Amino acid sequence: MNITNEIISAYIDNLYVNENPKLEELREFAESRNVPIILKDTEKLLKVIMKLKEPARVLEIGTAVGYSSCVFADCCGCRVVTIESDEESAKAARLNIENLGFSDLVEVVQGDAREVLASLDKEEGFDILFIDAAKSHYREFWDLSMPLMKDECMVICDNVLMKGMTVSDEYDERGRYKTSINRMRDFIHYINGLDYADTALLPVGDGVSISLIDKSI
Ligand SMILES: C[S@@+](CC[C@H](N)C(=O)[O-])C[C@H]1O[C@@H](n2cnc3c(N)ncnc32)[C@H](O)[C@@H]1O
Repeated sequence: MNITNEIISAYIDNLYVNENPKLEELREFAESRNVPIILKDTEKLLKVIMKLKEPARVLEIGTAVGYSSCVFADCCGCRVVTIESDEESAKAARLNIENLGFSDLVEVVQGDAREVLASLDKEEGFDILFIDAAKSHYREFWDLSMPLMKDECMVICDNVLMKGMTVSDEYDERGRYKTSINRMRDFIHYINGLDYADTALLPVGDGVSISLIDKSI
């Protein structure tokens, strides 16, 4: 099920304008091929956050065809390191990023984030982490990314409400997603219990969590 009211979502989506025609083309391309990219309301929220925080470096887990990485680079000129496990998607993302003129800002690293994260340079530090990949592994993505993040930073996770399934089993009609639902519930419980993180869960898109991190706490 959609976690948002359809009439309200339609109203919000009608207000959506993509100011960059090449990004709009990439959104249409992805949607026409059912590539799961950030929803329009989620994109708007992320852009406002990016503009507020003005991050120098963003770490993204889950590239797909490079849409959200290009949104980040486009809206605030930040550098982005984005990790994608699927080889074909990583290739497509690199081409799209080049076509949109963001090759100098966005680097695609191909591989499973659970392996890649350990090999990334810890020196410079990231300001924002965006997790948008396999839902069963959010806890691992979070823990493995934390050493790469600046002491004060932000973590944003997409799809945390999993079409309502995180809230109630009744939305998992065939009982197919038990493992990822339980893991997502554990993850949400985990991040809400961390002393160093202040987390808000928002019913935007498919559920977005925003955590402000202060590692000195
Ligand atoms: C929802 S899509 C990402 C969409 C993208 N963030 C956007 O909005 O344009 C999720 C992507 O994560 C990738 N993925 C899943 N598990 C992963 C992992 N363990 N490491 C890296 N990428 C992974 C999938 O192959 C898929 O392309």
